[in-house]
Amino acid sequence: MNIPHSTTAMTNSTPDRLPVTPALETKLPRVGTTIFTVMSALASEHGAVNLGQGFPDFDCDPALIDAVTDAMKQGLNQYPPMTGVPVLRTAIADKIEALYGHRYDAASEITVTAGATQGILTTLLCCVRTGDEVIVIEPAYDSYVPAIELAGGTPVFVQMQLGETGYTVPWDKVAAAVSPRTRMIMVNTPHNPTGSVLDTSDLEKLADIVRGTDILILSDEVYEHMVFDGREHASLCRHPELAARSFVNSSFGKTYHVTGWKVGYVAAPAALSAEFRKVHQFNVFTVNTPVQYALAAYMKNPAPYLELPAFYQRKRDLFLDGLKNTRFKLVPSGGTYFQCVDYRAISDKSEADFSKWLTTELGVAAIPVSAFYAQPKESGIVRFCFAKKDETLQLALKRLAAI
Ligand SMILES: Cc1ncc(COP(=O)(O)O)c(C=O)c1O
Repeated sequence: MNIPHSTTAMTNSTPDRLPVTPALETKLPRVGTTIFTVMSALASEHGAVNLGQGFPDFDCDPALIDAVTDAMKQGLNQYPPMTGVPVLRTAIADKIEALYGHRYDAASEITVTAGATQGILTTLLCCVRTGDEVIVIEPAYDSYVPAIELAGGTPVFVQMQLGETGYTVPWDKVAAAVSPRTRMIMVNTPHNPTGSVLDTSDLEKLADIVRGTDILILSDEVYEHMVFDGREHASLCRHPELAARSFVNSSFGKTYHVTGWKVGYVAAPAALSAEFRKVHQFNVFTVNTPVQYALAAYMKNPAPYLELPAFYQRKRDLFLDGLKNTRFKLVPSGGTYFQCVDYRAISDKSEADFSKWLTTELGVAAIPVSAFYAQPKESGIVRFCFAKKDETLQLALKRLAAI
């Protein structure tokens, strides 16, 4: 049979006419698999204790799970309002006011998000235009730079300084990085990966930098309830001038030991929230209904988040006590469930190689801090996560004591 050439091509019936994948110039050509995924895979391959990726290895309060089940059984299973269910937005506004003294309007200034990662991306997509600059303080959480680039912006990096008191933000360098194109400054307190926390003097310095400009601020406060040694969380909303230009992002995943639920919120003044919501409605539209109702019910009792600093401080102290028997030098920190250590007395390997060696040879996974820089920077520091059962931490410490 004489089949016309074009029909042959369409049916792909001959081996020399295989379908061709169209060439695609992606928007994020340099993005690969994150270090967290790589180290977790290596940890499971080698049976290592995983102190790499930041998630608890213990379960949440069963009452929270019951609250989700109750909501589902009550038939709260359809689309919620785009901005989040009103009871949850009100509970969030009440909590922020009680803790930080700033009242957000639950109807127009709080938006429930599918975790902080979405809140951050949506904030950047609604604020940043092509050619805008966004100041990023490094080391920085890995979603920031790809999110800026997706929005068409250019990250401008300022590196934290490491001294005897731990990592600090050099505000003079942040001020020097501001240009007429600066659209936004991103801050993160308590800070991943370093565990450093901002204080009121940091907020004053940031306010001095942005005063008289139209620079916006994205404040990543997902570890807001993990601040230790009697310190107070310096939420940007405590500072009226900063609150007026800030998108404050938080996450229930960190606070209630449910990182897989991916629910968070963004608090911002009404005009900023209105813009945020324009993107949010086409980005995710709505967030898991029964989980929102469950969180609202669970938040009526403030004890779980008020007790979180003591809960994690005890784990941190257990971990630090054990590390004193090793040659690691501890990097002072005031918050999060991460502890950075300087390993230069032990090895001169790169941070990535040392992390791999720790995982494969010693059986304890860590994350190289160099992975949190756009241009990997070697400081001889790795990050451990201590959001683990005591027995997990003890097993890790036993293995780490070998070096
Ligand atoms: C600093 C920081 N921001 C944002 C996130 C993302 O939070 P979520 O899981 O709610 O998206 C994380 C998670 O590890 C984080 O460490």
